Amino acid sequence: MRKPFVAGNWKMNTDSHSGPALAKAVADGSTEWAGSSVTVAVIPPFVYLPPVGQAVSSSGVAVGAQDIYFEEKGAFTGEISPGMLKDVGCTYALCGHSERRHVLGESDEIVNKKVLASIAGGLLPILCVGELLEERDAGQTEQVVERQVKEGLANVTAEKAPAVTIAYEPVWAIGTARTATPEQAQEVHAFIRKLIAQMYGEDLAQEMRLLYGGSVKPGNAAELMGQEDVDGSLVGGASLKADDFLGIIKAAV
Ligand code: PGA
Repeated sequence: MRKPFVAGNWKMNTDSHSGPALAKAVADGSTEWAGSSVTVAVIPPFVYLPPVGQAVSSSGVAVGAQDIYFEEKGAFTGEISPGMLKDVGCTYALCGHSERRHVLGESDEIVNKKVLASIAGGLLPILCVGELLEERDAGQTEQVVERQVKEGLANVTAEKAPAVTIAYEPVWAIGTARTATPEQAQEVHAFIRKLIAQMYGEDLAQEMRLLYGGSVKPGNAAELMGQEDVDGSLVGGASLKADDFLGIIKAAV
């Protein structure tokens, strides 16, 4: 049985007051489930990691980073290393979120380096994959997702692969209120699980958690996460309101 996993990606939102307050409201509202029956993570902007970490410190809520750099230190202006993220209490790191891929131009090769650096640095990567609308319309969804999964996990050994969570986020469903149907999500999740089985064997494929992301709300969360291969959700907009995010956490239990 895979434990459900709900992560809130705050993106470039909140401030030094609202961030910790939101994190505390999530921690207080989820004491019954967070860490025990569902893995819960909040993923604030880098600069608010320490106060957010403090706000959830005695709770079952974990903290993640929205991005990571693949070098440990040195002349990489503006970047944040795995060691720094560990130092401020991060457990998870998003790698290859669609906004990093499509707004900031990150390649599969860079995403792969970030996955490898996360694991080497003792963080748990959440590898994000997903097709553009034109790719879906052209019937290329599986091809795109297969490339992103295989290249994203290049050189990740079977021994290290259990550290990885994969988030399937169709780009056309992110921030658009156009959610994938539960059937569409299940179809791609089943495809990803089959790929993982080919790459790492059936046991690991059954163990790995696959999250859906893209306009997840309290109202559609239960149906999406009720699909056989959907083990949780990566939530953007709805993670900025404690009540909505808590509603999604409850739907995962
Ligand atoms: P959304 O974002 O829930 O606002 O669609 C999801 C994500 O980008 O992780």
